[in-house]
Amino acid sequence: MIALIWAQDEAGLIGANGQLPWHLSADLKRFKALTSHHTVVMGRKTFAGFKRPLPQRQNIVLSHQELSLPAGVQQFHSLAELWALAAAKPDELIFVIGGAAVFAAVLPRADVLYRTLINHRFEGDTWMPAIDYDQWQLTAEQTVTADEQTPFSFSFADYQRR
Ligand SMILES: NC(=O)c1ccc[n+]([C@@H]2O[C@H](COP(=O)([O-])OP(=O)(O)OC[C@H]3O[C@@H](n4cnc5c(N)ncnc54)[C@H](OP(=O)(O)O)[C@@H]3O)[C@@H](O)[C@H]2O)c1
Repeated sequence: MIALIWAQDEAGLIGANGQLPWHLSADLKRFKALTSHHTVVMGRKTFAGFKRPLPQRQNIVLSHQELSLPAGVQQFHSLAELWALAAAKPDELIFVIGGAAVFAAVLPRADVLYRTLINHRFEGDTWMPAIDYDQWQLTAEQTVTADEQTPFSFSFADYQRR
């Protein structure tokens, strides 16, 4: 099964200058808890924004180029390799972790969504593709209110394809 996991602001913004537009530790914790010990698949530009591969996860980077990657990091040259992996491991949740180009390409074949929605507007340059939520069943939701550390509320929502 293929899951998309991302955080967006109210306008669907997900990136700024190759990085996340915000620092939200509660979201990073949730991301780590959900994706650890799973396979994570990402676009070349998202991987370039990391200092190192994500620990305790099989990192797979999508690119049409021949990349020189750190030991242990795998490359997929096309989405066909992702579909083949998902077909070979139907009981495993494979996390597609961005960015926008990869989310747009994988969305039609995704089974599960893990969305963080930040109730704020940030500056940036990369947006989540439009999602028709009529096609998705909300299975869990949690709202976190603003406090001194985080001056905006945010919510975690999980969806399964209807
Ligand atoms: N808020 C969030 O949850 C979140 C999550 C992830 C990323 N982001 C942000 O999103 C931004 C990056 O997103 P992006 O859309 O610019 O780039 P991206 O999706 O990370 O990477 C795009 C690259 O991935 C490769 N790629 C994409 N589709 C492919 C396919 N079907 N087959 C082979 N290779 C493929 C291509 O690499 P080549 O050009 O090498 O062929 C393409 O240029 C950053 O700002 C990042 O911080 C935010």
